[in-house]
Amino acid sequence: MEYNEILSKARDLIHSKCRVCKDCNGVACRGEIPGVGGKGSGTSFIRNREKVNEIKINLDTLVPEGEIDTSIELFGRRFKYPVFAAPIAAVGMNYSDAMNEYEYSKAIVEGCKNAGTLGFTGDGVKDEFYDLPLQVVGENEGMGIPTIKPWKNDEIIRKIKKAEEKGAIAVAMDVDAAGLVLLAMLGKPVSTKSVEDLKEVISSTKLPVILKGVMTVDGAKKALEAGAYGIVVSNHGGRVLDHTYATVEVLPNIAKTIKGQMKIFVDGGFRSGVDLFKARALGADAVLIGRPYGTVAYGGGIEGVEKYTHKLGQELLETMIMTGCHRLEDISEKHISL
Ligand SMILES: Cc1cc2nc3c(=O)[nH]c(=O)nc-3n(C[C@H](O)[C@H](O)[C@H](O)COP(=O)(O)O)c2cc1C
Repeated sequence: MEYNEILSKARDLIHSKCRVCKDCNGVACRGEIPGVGGKGSGTSFIRNREKVNEIKINLDTLVPEGEIDTSIELFGRRFKYPVFAAPIAAVGMNYSDAMNEYEYSKAIVEGCKNAGTLGFTGDGVKDEFYDLPLQVVGENEGMGIPTIKPWKNDEIIRKIKKAEEKGAIAVAMDVDAAGLVLLAMLGKPVSTKSVEDLKEVISSTKLPVILKGVMTVDGAKKALEAGAYGIVVSNHGGRVLDHTYATVEVLPNIAKTIKGQMKIFVDGGFRSGVDLFKARALGADAVLIGRPYGTVAYGGGIEGVEKYTHKLGQELLETMIMTGCHRLEDISEKHISL
């Protein structure tokens, strides 16, 4: 299946919620939740994409020839590219019934695994939003990262135990979901977390814990103090708060403060391998991509996810050639202009 065919099939299946725009930038879908838009005016999503686009790459091929290595070590394992599928849940509500939670997660987790990377999976108001993706992670030797909502600590710890039983290699918590009042209205309250709360959760497991949804230096320091394996610099793709900064705007200061002490992931508006290069240059270890993975999962299933991941990897490799970078560690601020 060609990439364009994947997009065109996705357009047929999900057009009422996602137009599968040429550039997935949050403009056509602004404010559409349920759906794939950003919250309110949609500005947080749109700004994420705009600010990634504004970063320019400094071309320089006057360097010695050499092998290019796009791989990265995380969780004691090596991955082919520094990119992972972001957690997306409640796909029936947000995309279409053409896939259920199990089928969607299978496409994401297996597709990423086949391509040499990893998929994160989601959580939500219904138990099946966590359990079905977790089942897929279990069926794939634990190669996926279940992402748990900031419920009451007892509930989070119960869900982490389930992830351990399925052999997951790590778990995450989208701490920026604390303001989802809809969940409270449905009887499943989420809340903000103190460093003490986080310590209780993190010390309950031997698995690496990633805190997703950190947008300030202060937040990153607290995650470090709590003992997190890493953070995702993320505003949830603009879905939890209107008028935030773009993630690439806050990333450099966060990276300057905590780089090397904790892993730094980032998401929000990254679409291509060139964008992965930009994230590395700004101090991230690896990138999560959300909506474009939703599109290729619907349009091409496991194969679609695999193809898109290799496409990202190839674009990253080409960008590394064109900037004289042989390893991810070679990519630095000097290779981009803001
Ligand atoms: C439809 C939809 C559902 C999502 N569900 C979750 C979720 O269950 N848990 C979570 O941590 N993030 C969720 N997110 C946020 C993504 O994981 C990610 O942070 C965001 O999509 C990244 O921005 P991008 O789509 O511009 O790449 C969701 C995003 C979308 C669009």
